[in-house]
Amino acid sequence: MQQDKQKEVAFFDNLASSQEYNVFTDEANNKIIHTLETLLALEPGARLLDLGCGSGIFTQLLQARGYHCVGLDLSQKLLGLGKQQTPAIDYVQADVEALPFASESVDYVILSCLVHHLPNPKRCAEEVFRVLKPNGKYVAFDPNRLNPFMYLYRDRSSPFYSSKGVTENERPVLPKQVQSVFTQAGLEAASHFVDGLAFRYVASGAARGILPIYNFFDRTFFRAQWLSLFRAFVFTYGIKPAVI
Ligand SMILES: C[S@@+](CC[C@H](N)C(=O)[O-])C[C@H]1O[C@@H](n2cnc3c(N)ncnc32)[C@H](O)[C@@H]1O
Repeated sequence: MQQDKQKEVAFFDNLASSQEYNVFTDEANNKIIHTLETLLALEPGARLLDLGCGSGIFTQLLQARGYHCVGLDLSQKLLGLGKQQTPAIDYVQADVEALPFASESVDYVILSCLVHHLPNPKRCAEEVFRVLKPNGKYVAFDPNRLNPFMYLYRDRSSPFYSSKGVTENERPVLPKQVQSVFTQAGLEAASHFVDGLAFRYVASGAARGILPIYNFFDRTFFRAQWLSLFRAFVFTYGIKPAVI
């Protein structure tokens, strides 16, 4: 199945006209940044490519921490918001399935809440492999379908699925499937599960009502290591081997 790019752009352009795209609390955003820095083992001043950057929430937070970032997204309007906020960052309007960068030119790639928008992420993973330098690293983070809340609220097979605030293309990911897409593209891949990423906003009014309950469970229930597989977000990360 292919991604419907026009619907994706229309959805996110529309979002940009009403608000910035910033769904997590500041604390959650900082936890995401810390996790990215740890999994990528970022050197000070590293150069990063942020794929699916939207309005550049994470691009800007990373730039503020001294990294040199380029943000890339399909939605020109979300990129416009990012450019207004931080003119110093380069934002590129392009498709992650055809990256406008030379092969072996990038040290670090972040796929920020992007993979779950791609019905088949194979082409994107191949592009990440192509642009990464040998020993370059990537990390993707996405909602985890093994998490009961993500499954019940966001998976189409759930009786409680809500289509509010989501594109037709998206659904939470299965960690092993995402790992397998990256390994098939030639990259090493491991999963790291993160809880306590509190949402400040969800589109459905009913879900918004129970958001404090979700946020409470998310930061308490899945703390135990043996439940980590079920945490709400999965970070898939790895390296491009120097010799294949
Ligand atoms: C869930 S949003 C994440 C935005 C931002 N990274 C964040 O976490 O706040 C997913 C983003 O991926 C972008 N996107 C989806 N498919 C894409 C594609 N094929 N190429 C480039 N960007 C894409 C969308 O336009 C959207 O901005």
